[in-house]
Amino acid sequence: MNAVSFSVAIDVFDARAAEAAIPALSEILRDCVANGASVGFMNWNTTADYERFWRDVAAGVAGGQVVLLGARAADGLVGTAQLHLIGKPNQPHRAEIAKVLVHSRARRQGIGEALIQRAEAIARDRGRDLLVLDTDEHGAARRLYNRLGWTEAGTIPRYALMPDGADCGSTFFYKGLA
Ligand SMILES: CC(C)(COP(=O)(O)OP(=O)(O)OC[C@H]1O[C@@H](n2cnc3c(N)ncnc32)[C@H](O)[C@@H]1OP(=O)(O)O)[C@@H](O)C(=O)NCCC(=O)NCCS
Repeated sequence: MNAVSFSVAIDVFDARAAEAAIPALSEILRDCVANGASVGFMNWNTTADYERFWRDVAAGVAGGQVVLLGARAADGLVGTAQLHLIGKPNQPHRAEIAKVLVHSRARRQGIGEALIQRAEAIARDRGRDLLVLDTDEHGAARRLYNRLGWTEAGTIPRYALMPDGADCGSTFFYKGLA
């Protein structure tokens, strides 16, 4: 599909909306993996695997541990991101951003940045003042996080695999919100 111009809204999904969005979220995840993103899945994973993943995320939304964002364009969902609220008693100030995914047809229009900024704003509203995340050392996200004021803590070589089985280092970031 060709890239088109989007006017995008960022929605916060409740558990019911998260469940309803599973097919669209699975398509975004499938597209990202098919385009070589190291986001937890391999080339051989199937739609059933992606749907199972999003069902678990929807359960996290229902349980209050996960904030799920969706970037909605005129033709449907084109991006997503998660904020994981750390439940440990000794980490009430910390949250983690995960699975920032933008469909390949909608990239380089500021949607990734909008998702991250919204996740940061929600973290602040929830009383979190330290955010962490990790991302593929060679991916577009690394530039994006650096531009948005995140600090690189370091890169662990061979932390994960690319969808084709090649080694993938992960760069760990943090950002203070105070
Ligand atoms: C990383 C990812 C989420 C970025 O999404 P995106 O919507 O393309 O992000 P943005 O548009 O905000 O920024 C990407 C680039 O587009 C540029 N851009 C933003 N708006 C633009 C516009 N209107 N015109 C031209 N370029 C633009 C940004 O400056 C940025 O440039 P850079 O690549 O030099 O840093 C996306 O590439 C993706 O889903 N990758 C696969 C999954 C992945 O690796 N996720 C990270 C896991 S934590």
